[in-house]
Amino acid sequence: MRTQVAIIGAGPAGLLLAWLLRRQGIAAVVLERRSREYCERRVRAGVLEQGTVDTLAEAGVGARLKAEGQVHHGIELRFGGAGHRIAFEELVPGRGITVYGQQEIVKDLIKANLEAGVDLRFEIDDVAIGDMADHPHLTFGGERLDCDFIAGCDGFHGVSRPAIPPGAIRVFEKTYPFAWLGILANVRPSTRELIYSASERGFALHSMRSDEVSRFYLQVPPQTRPEDWAEDEIWAELKARHETVPDFELNTQGEITSVDVAAMRSFVAEPMRHGRLLLAGDAAHIVPPTGAKGLNLAVADIRVLARSLTDYYRHGREDLLDRYSEICLRRVWRAQHFSWWMTSLLHTSDHATLYDRRLQRADLDYVVSSRAQATTLAENYVGLPFSADE
Ligand code: FAD
Ligand code: DHB
Repeated sequence: MRTQVAIIGAGPAGLLLAWLLRRQGIAAVVLERRSREYCERRVRAGVLEQGTVDTLAEAGVGARLKAEGQVHHGIELRFGGAGHRIAFEELVPGRGITVYGQQEIVKDLIKANLEAGVDLRFEIDDVAIGDMADHPHLTFGGERLDCDFIAGCDGFHGVSRPAIPPGAIRVFEKTYPFAWLGILANVRPSTRELIYSASERGFALHSMRSDEVSRFYLQVPPQTRPEDWAEDEIWAELKARHETVPDFELNTQGEITSVDVAAMRSFVAEPMRHGRLLLAGDAAHIVPPTGAKGLNLAVADIRVLARSLTDYYRHGREDLLDRYSEICLRRVWRAQHFSWWMTSLLHTSDHATLYDRRLQRADLDYVVSSRAQATTLAENYVGLPFSADE
């Protein structure tokens, strides 16, 4: 079997790449380990930068996102007994975020790809990279798929990155002494905008998916399993961490439909290309979720990759492909810094000294009292504009 681009992984990165290539008449096959149902149900990110929304709209897969996504023009930072709004409309006029679940994007992209006849194969659990140099190919289920390029879009735990010889890649990594418990509940949100609460008990985030569905996160110890938390304990902890300002009551009347644990890690693999293998999204880099950057970075990588491959097939040019890693890594490292900073700003740590805590409080006070620092947060949060080569 032969195709032009063999894509491993049907997350947002792999699916968007397949779709953008299809629109340029470039053939791709997508191999995904999980079932379609599993991919469509997996609850993850929810905050989309303007550039991500624009990318999906320009690609013709933004209709439901436009109809159902909620546009937000601010977030609240809550600490020290008070709430402070970071007002995007004042700080970064004309730019905001859209709240729309990652699994809805995945559903939209799977549907678009299948309707356009793209070869998406689910439940393929034995993909191996046969060669990523002169004769690139994958093997799976006793078959061989020859191709011109392999796109490694298989997330942090995939097979693509580990297939690169250790000497050919450098890894930069940081782990954090906590994780996030993610909770999805059929509960009317108690707020119109997201609330990032820094409390003595740990960080908590109040987000949402619609007028009837709330998404919450709680900072928890790193080894936590979802079953460690009973429903009433979750609600009590969310109340304790969010009900820290006068007149705020958390709405808890409804059913919890999903509880998951997300590890917190910062990770970058450089370069993002080895021979004919190109890594994109979580396969190449991970950020802690506090700045909501993971999914947005995956989309930014794919913009560059789709354009580079289009240039190759249309004009026989490889210069963009040669610069793929360098172009992506500029945005990746900016997001690495922002995500690390937001994480340090808002979480508690057993390792923190009293001195560290005072520094953290000074940092928080500065964000909400200095227009310059609030603008730094706002412009990174809504997403920096794409450069000419992105
Ligand atoms: P993924 O979405 O991970 O997709 C990779 C795909 O490859 C998956 O479908 C996987 O099944 C498949 N795959 C893996 N291995 C193989 C294999 N060997 N063969 C074939 N297929 C394979 N970001 C935020 O901004 N906010 C959040 O709240 C947030 N929460 C998260 C919670 C969790 C538990 C995780 C893991 C991530 C979270 N993220 C969050 C990050 C965000 O979801 C990711 O950055 C985003 O999913 C990246 O998309 P991707 O397509 O690169 O990778
Ligand atoms: C969501 C996730 C995030 O990581 C974040 O910073 C804000 C919101 C969410 O899933 O809604």
